[in-house]
Amino acid sequence: MTFKIPSLCAALIMVITHVHGQNYEAQVDALMQRMTLEERIGQTVMYGGGWDKTGPTINTEFEKHIADGNTGAMLNVYTAKGTRALQKIAVEQTRLGIPLLFGYDVIHGHRTIFPINLALSCSWDLGMVEQSSRIAAEEASAEGLHWTFAPMVDVARDPRWGRISEGAGEDVFLGSAIAKAYVKGFQGNDLSANNTILACAKHYVAYGAAQAGRDYHTVNMSENELRNVYLPPFKATIDANVQTFMSAFNELNGVPTSGNKFTLRDILKDEWKFKGFVVSDYTSINEMIMHGFAKDSLESAKIGMNAGVDMDMMGEVYRKYLKQLITEGKVDEAAVNDACRRILLTKFKLGLFDDPYRYSDETRQKETIYKPEFLETARHIAAASSVLLKNDNEALPLSKDQTFALIGPLAKDEYHINGNWGGAGDRDGKSVSIYEGLLEYVSDKAIFYSKGCDIESEDQSGFKAAIETAKKADVVLLVMGESYHMSGEAASRTNLKIPGVQPELIQAIREAIPNKKIILVLMNGRPLNISEEKEEVNAILEAWYPGTMGGLAVADLLFGKENPSAKLTATFPRNVGQVPIYYNMKNTGRPIPKNNPKEDYKSNYIDSPNTPLYPFGFGLSYTTFTYSDFKISAKTIGFNETLKVSATISNTGNYDGQEIVQLYLHDKVGSVTRPVKELKGFEKIFLKKGERKVVTFEISTEDLKFYNAEMLYGVEPGEFEIAIAPSSDFEFEHMFELKK
Ligand code: BGC
Repeated sequence: MTFKIPSLCAALIMVITHVHGQNYEAQVDALMQRMTLEERIGQTVMYGGGWDKTGPTINTEFEKHIADGNTGAMLNVYTAKGTRALQKIAVEQTRLGIPLLFGYDVIHGHRTIFPINLALSCSWDLGMVEQSSRIAAEEASAEGLHWTFAPMVDVARDPRWGRISEGAGEDVFLGSAIAKAYVKGFQGNDLSANNTILACAKHYVAYGAAQAGRDYHTVNMSENELRNVYLPPFKATIDANVQTFMSAFNELNGVPTSGNKFTLRDILKDEWKFKGFVVSDYTSINEMIMHGFAKDSLESAKIGMNAGVDMDMMGEVYRKYLKQLITEGKVDEAAVNDACRRILLTKFKLGLFDDPYRYSDETRQKETIYKPEFLETARHIAAASSVLLKNDNEALPLSKDQTFALIGPLAKDEYHINGNWGGAGDRDGKSVSIYEGLLEYVSDKAIFYSKGCDIESEDQSGFKAAIETAKKADVVLLVMGESYHMSGEAASRTNLKIPGVQPELIQAIREAIPNKKIILVLMNGRPLNISEEKEEVNAILEAWYPGTMGGLAVADLLFGKENPSAKLTATFPRNVGQVPIYYNMKNTGRPIPKNNPKEDYKSNYIDSPNTPLYPFGFGLSYTTFTYSDFKISAKTIGFNETLKVSATISNTGNYDGQEIVQLYLHDKVGSVTRPVKELKGFEKIFLKKGERKVVTFEISTEDLKFYNAEMLYGVEPGEFEIAIAPSSDFEFEHMFELKK
């Protein structure tokens, strides 16, 4: 029997299918029917532009590939004008006029640069993460960009690895929450709006676990560790509807991740049902030859496509070899069709088939980039991302009626302050240096400046002048750290000290003015070993690379207009030998005995404590907070029950302030061993001076799940320790039991 759908109902179904994108799928299918194999392969190819002083440039050979229909996407080309010109070639000169996708590394801001991602994660502020990526998307989309290669959601537990600066630090739970917030900010609620862009979860996967912290290096990891630690932030981006993934440069257990069928097809596309597309990292398909996994380019293209990499970034192997591989039966044409379909679908979702130039609008570009409200937000976010590591005797905040010796190679810097992925942010004058920031509070007559030394050189000839400057002022402000290219890609270090002779300069100044207040402001892209410098100075503000408005944000903090609230998301080691060091490690069979510290055999160094210099979750405020009155709703819960835990947080100091309250658990016994502590919740609260608040967390069995030895995700009954704490440095005092 057949029956007719009433017309109103039919219209409704059309609306619903359109909203859910099924309509796009039909359009993609119809388009693909008209495409030749070469044209379908063309969609899987990405080429790139470059830059010169006038802006993005493009090589004529690539222009020809666009005109020939051999290109689906371009990277490193932006500006409304630049993208429009190339889009015109794709639309007007190719047979089917399929528009290009323009992708770019919009990592921590596009023009308005926000603090580096590691810094931003220290705000523990998901709203701010989303706001920063929303603004980045506003600016990027106004410059013709459709797609960012962000967020990087690699868990990173090794500060030698320079790319620790690009992520959210060492924790799975926090990293997953932050990953989602980035995707939401970039993609918004409606991809077809012209101010939203595709996000890209990278680098899939385990890239952050490179041996010895050396970028691109080998990763050997159990599937259990992969599933419990390194995969969850990627899965979180899928839950947030991320549209693209990027494979990585590293090998994982002997198989390069750009040719890894297990992670790409079995987990990402089959198990997680990811419907977007995977782009390779820059020539990472070709690099499988160097890894010793493919004998030549032809084979690398075969492995990449068969493993599930849909688009070849800059490698040219898909363009050159896919047709031959299909003819020879080494690649199934269906795999190429699937890749092409996934790529076209995103173009439909972005609305590029309605108007391929909708993002390339010069008027919108002019109105959007560096909007005053964007800059104001960046200033506030930078202040919320700087971590106060030390503040003896309330050395900070500063009083305005003093004189200041401003010393250090980064004190007047407007260049490094943008950090490693400074995007399209202006490094020639737009960014506010710390010196300029201070001028908002005090006159230049109250500031005596001396550079002292360079960031990296061994030259100490500036020391004498710096010491004289230090002697003249009431307070010494040192602005020191790494140069921006010492973190980020291909920037691993074996030495985690502040580089060059900066540590010696700190020491020399301290010796010359033993009783004066010295404040150290750090700009760097990784946790550093500042064990010695910590002893020389009265206060340390870790400003990371705070971005375009960094100088103003730092000044706001130094003079107390803003109260520091950020907390570390990556452990600071005492020395490089402790690395990798992170809070949620496992216990050993010979843990440090609590009652008998003289016990001979313990899992400890003979020359260093196990404890870090500054733990995960740590950060000071100008005020003080106390935690009291811990309450737990039950001592035992069943599988379908939830537990409520609460604590009273009181602002007991002299300033209003924000506190990041953290919830930790310890699953005492598991069929695979569990970490000694796991973050399972957090809340950032504002308390006026003298105010108190009860913070409550709910725990359900969902929060207790993990992958067991059979790779099944579930929960096991037993005892759990639980705490609400200001950082990961605490001892558990409370417990509950989960019963079947
Ligand atoms: C990096 C990626 C980046 C890509 C495109 C690669 O070298 O590993 O993170 O997105 O280049 O610029």
